[in-house]
Amino acid sequence: MTRRQVMTGILAGGAVAAGAQAAAPAFTLPKLPYAFDALEPYIDARTMEIHHDKHHQAYVDNLNKAIAAHAEWAKYPVEELLGKFSQLPEGLKTAVRNQGGGHANHSLFWQVLGKPTGKAPQGRLARDIDRSFGGLPQFQSKLKAAAMGVFGSGWAWLNIDSENRLLVEASANQDSPWMMQRKSVLGIDVWEHAYYLKYQNRRAEYLDAILHVLDWAAISHRYEQMGK
Ligand SMILES: [Fe+2]
Repeated sequence: MTRRQVMTGILAGGAVAAGAQAAAPAFTLPKLPYAFDALEPYIDARTMEIHHDKHHQAYVDNLNKAIAAHAEWAKYPVEELLGKFSQLPEGLKTAVRNQGGGHANHSLFWQVLGKPTGKAPQGRLARDIDRSFGGLPQFQSKLKAAAMGVFGSGWAWLNIDSENRLLVEASANQDSPWMMQRKSVLGIDVWEHAYYLKYQNRRAEYLDAILHVLDWAAISHRYEQMGK
């Protein structure tokens, strides 16, 4: 995660301004790990472009604006800020919850998607999904039901709780698993901005589509690294 860096400011005339410093932003937009059209025909390129370049960028920009007034908190990665939510100054909480949550949630979302391959979960994740939900179809059905049950905007998740159990959960708005002291294996964005251009109000069709572009190889690998 990017840490705050301080650079020396130089005046147009070439002199170094006494005390003039320009700070690099504390948080930056992660690069999308594939092309905008990689998820076609399930998720269209235009939606991906707007979603990543405009929506996610706005969460990052707004979080940077808010953290500027609380510089002592700028050193933490966003997931850690969310995990320390109860310790944050009151004036920073709303921004971390909404903008920080938006930044963390989308950063995970891009990682769990990829070109449709038809692959299933692998290794330990496959075994744990079977044990926890009875199989992949049952898990998918539970995840879809959680996503359909979100009123308005929010997310559906496959999370790990403090007792290392796999859970399907949902959250409103940009409320984030890290704020709830969860580790998250994957998240599905259920805001209309994730699907409205192609699917309009047909959330169920979007969810069926997104199940085709979950990158189970990458998700299974992440799960191994999480050390559950
Ligand atoms: Fe989104």
